[in-house]
Amino acid sequence: MEQLRLGVLVSGRGSNLQSIMDACDRGETKAKVVVVLSDNPDAYGLVRAQNAGIDTYVVKPSDYPDRDAHNAAMGDILERYQVGLICLAGYMRVLAPSFVERFRHRIINIHPALLPSFPGLHGQEQALNYGVKVSGCTVHFVDEGVDTGPIVIQAVVPAFHDDTEETLSARILKYEHKIYPAAIRLYAEGRLKVEGRKVIIEGDPHKEWAVTNPPLDF
Ligand code: GAR
Repeated sequence: MEQLRLGVLVSGRGSNLQSIMDACDRGETKAKVVVVLSDNPDAYGLVRAQNAGIDTYVVKPSDYPDRDAHNAAMGDILERYQVGLICLAGYMRVLAPSFVERFRHRIINIHPALLPSFPGLHGQEQALNYGVKVSGCTVHFVDEGVDTGPIVIQAVVPAFHDDTEETLSARILKYEHKIYPAAIRLYAEGRLKVEGRKVIIEGDPHKEWAVTNPPLDF
């Protein structure tokens, strides 16, 4: 079976990139990371990719006249590597509509909140300031908006009144590292169909469940 070729965009630490590379190495996804791009030359994600023998490119926005030109340069690299799916993994810039159109339904993102709540930057801090009792993370297809595209998978974790941005972020991150590779696996297996705002997952077991925070028996 041919493997899905992944291009990953990072701006920083790259722990989600690492979880994707690790899942690919373990054979859990029919996919492999073939190229990693960053807008930030100091992104540690670049080091992680290089350690794994994966080609990396720094594509700096300041080297281009506008966002369309910058994104077009990234798109050219991704096409050169015959990437089938583009994964944003802590890529902290909004993509140009021209880029989204060029790779329609072939770009996914992970966001550290339960969308559509708390899009944009510092999703975890926004959720804490709001006083939510649960939060989590979301993998979604990328459309022209900010964190607005069709949702593939979400994970829910509790939020506690004495959480800090750091403690909640760490709790959420553990699940980011689980749901991102899972979403890629479903995509690679051809099991995701986008119909309007909805993503239909082939074989979805429709298992019913609920969590409360706090638990009802405390
Ligand atoms: C992750 O928590 C990711 O969800 C978030 O940035 C972090 C990157 O960590 N992304 C966003 O906030 C996008 N709006 P990583 O570089 O270790 O994967």
